[in-house]
Amino acid sequence: AKFTLDATKSKKISNTLLGIFFEDINYAADGGLYAELVQNRDFEYTVRDTKGRDTTWNSSKAWRLNNKTAKFAIDSINPIHPNSKHYAKLAIKQAGTALVNEGFDGIAVKAGEKYDFSIFARATDGKAGKLLVRLVGKNGEILGETTTQSITANWKKHNATLTAKATIANASLEIIPQMTGSLDLDLISLFPQKTFKGHKNGLRADLAQTLADLKPKFMRFPGGCVAHGDGIENIYNWKNTIGSLESRKPMRNLWGYHQTVGLGYFEYFQFCEDAGAEPLPVIAAGVPCQNSSTGGAGHQGGVPMCDMDNYVQDILDLVEYANGNTTTKWGKKRAEAGHPKPFNLKYIGVGNEDLITDIFEERFTMIFKAMKEKYPEITVIGTVGPSFEGTDYQEGWDIATKLGVPMVDEHYYQSPGWFIYNQDYYDQYDRSKSKVYLGEYAAHLPGKPNNVETALAEALYLTSLERNGDVVSMTSYAPLLAKDKHTQWNPNLIYFNNTEVRPTVGYEVQKLYGQNAGDHYIPSEISLSNHQENVKNRIAISVVRDSKSNDLIVKLVNLLPVAVNASFDMKNFNFVNPETVKTVLRGDPSDKNARPVKTACSVSELNSVELPAYSFTIYRIKTI
Ligand code: AHR
Repeated sequence: AKFTLDATKSKKISNTLLGIFFEDINYAADGGLYAELVQNRDFEYTVRDTKGRDTTWNSSKAWRLNNKTAKFAIDSINPIHPNSKHYAKLAIKQAGTALVNEGFDGIAVKAGEKYDFSIFARATDGKAGKLLVRLVGKNGEILGETTTQSITANWKKHNATLTAKATIANASLEIIPQMTGSLDLDLISLFPQKTFKGHKNGLRADLAQTLADLKPKFMRFPGGCVAHGDGIENIYNWKNTIGSLESRKPMRNLWGYHQTVGLGYFEYFQFCEDAGAEPLPVIAAGVPCQNSSTGGAGHQGGVPMCDMDNYVQDILDLVEYANGNTTTKWGKKRAEAGHPKPFNLKYIGVGNEDLITDIFEERFTMIFKAMKEKYPEITVIGTVGPSFEGTDYQEGWDIATKLGVPMVDEHYYQSPGWFIYNQDYYDQYDRSKSKVYLGEYAAHLPGKPNNVETALAEALYLTSLERNGDVVSMTSYAPLLAKDKHTQWNPNLIYFNNTEVRPTVGYEVQKLYGQNAGDHYIPSEISLSNHQENVKNRIAISVVRDSKSNDLIVKLVNLLPVAVNASFDMKNFNFVNPETVKTVLRGDPSDKNARPVKTACSVSELNSVELPAYSFTIYRIKTI
C-alpha cells in the first residue's frame, strides 16, 4: 500500500471526538466506581429493585446478626430523613452481638490503609453506650477496629477511622453495641481514605484512574437507559442525587438492582473535572424508555403535560447548579457541596434512543426551546431513536432538522463485519445539518468477549470517524464497566472485581485514540496493489495533527491475515526530530489479551514499513 499526504491539505475536526459513556449497568456505580464498601448501607433495598424477581432482596439484604438471642428488624418511624425511610432496629441481649455487613461480594481492604466509618445511631431505651466497629476476616480474625462515641437518645452521626492490619479481599464489617438494650442504626458507611484524588464520598482510585487514562474529552452520564428509566417514576432526577447522603432519594435501577445515588450529579461533575473531561449529562426528554409508562409494556406515555413546566424547570436548574454563581439558588447548593467555582457545563443530552412519537416530539420540543431561550450557549444533544436493527433514524433526524438541534445522538451495536463494511457511513452526511454524537457503539461477536477482531474493527471504524470529524463531534464506546458476576450486558470495555481492574483489548484501542487525538485531519490518497484492492476495507489510515503539541499522528489498521508493506509519500512536512515513537497492537483475532507495545524508531521508517497481520500501528511524530 502507498499513502500520499500533503501537509498543506487539512481540515479542522472535532477536538472532543473521544469520550466515555458511563451508565450504572453491571454494578458500575454502587459496588463499582463508587468507593462505598458497605452494601445496602441505608436499608433501602426493596424487592421492587428487582421487579419482584428476587424475594431475598429486601431492607436487610447483605446484613445479618451473629447472635440468635438478639433481634434485628427494619423500622421506618421517625427516620433520619424522609428520603431514607428505613433503618435497622436492634434489640441486644448479650454482649458481643454484632450486626454484620458482607459488603459487595466481601469488603476488600489493604494492610496499613485507613478507612472512614460513619453511622447514624440512637438508643431508644435510654441506655447509652459506644459502638465497637470491626473489620473481620473469614476465620474471625480482627483486621482492624475502632469505637464510636456513646450513642444518644436522638439520631446522631458518628465518625471513626479504622486501619486495616492485613490485605484481604473478603472481609466483613461488624458493628458491636457495647451495651444491651434497643437501638436504631442507619446509613452505615465505610470508605477507603485513598479514593481518586482523595475526595470524601469519592471514587475507587484504580477504576477511576483507568477511566482517566483514556484521556476522555467528555463523559456522558448517568446512562443509557438509566437516564430515562423504564417508566415515568423511574426517570433519573438529578435533584434527588445531590446534597447530604441521607437526603438523597435512592431508586430502583432498571438493570435489576439498587441505586443509592451516592454517586450523584455532584460526584459526576467532580470526576469530569478531575479527569479533564467535559461533563455531558443526559436527561430524559420527558419520556421514559420506549415511552413506557407505569401502565406497563405496550402502554406508551410521557410526563403528563400538566407537569412538563416543572420538568423543564428542573433541566434549566441543572445548568444553574453547574454554572450559576454562588448567589443563585442552585449555584449555592453546588458551593455548599464544596465547589464554589462553576463546573463549566457546555453540553446537555436530551433523550436516550427514545421511540420517536408525537409524545416524544412534543416534550423534546418544549425542553429544547426552553434551553435555547435561557441558555443558548449550551449545546443540546438530541436523540434520533432506538438502535434496533433496521432503524434508519429518519423521524428523529427530521425533528432535529426542523428544530435546528445542534447535535444528535446515534447508537449502534453491530458485528465487526458491519464496522468493516460501513466505514463510509458518515462520508455522505449532510454537513449543513446537526452534528453527530455517536453515543453508544461497539463491535459485538455473539457470545464472545472483546478480542483483537472486535477491537481492530473498532480501530478501523475510528479512522473513518476521525476522517468525518467535521460532522462527527463526539463518540463513546458502550458500555464502559462491568463487575464480575454482576453483568447484565456483554461485552464491556473494562471488567473488574473488588481487587482487580481488567481493561479489554477494546479499551487499549480507545486509549490509543484518546491519547493520540488531533484537531486537524490530513487526507491521504491510498494506492493499493491489485490483490489488496479486493480487500481494501481491511486496510485503513487516519492522519491527524494535534495543534497543541504540533505532533503529527499516523494511525494504520491492517485487518488482513497477512502483513502489508506500506510506504508514504509525505509532501510539505517538516519533521524536526528524526526519532519518533511507534506503538503497535497486534494479535490473533481471538486474542483477548493483546497489549500495545511502544518502541522508538526513525521517521524514515515510513519510507517502507511492514504493517503486521491483524494490527493497529500508531506513529507520533514531532513537527515544528
Ligand atoms: O449500553 C447499554 C444500553 O444500550 C443502554 O443503556 C441503552 O441506551 C442501549 O440500548
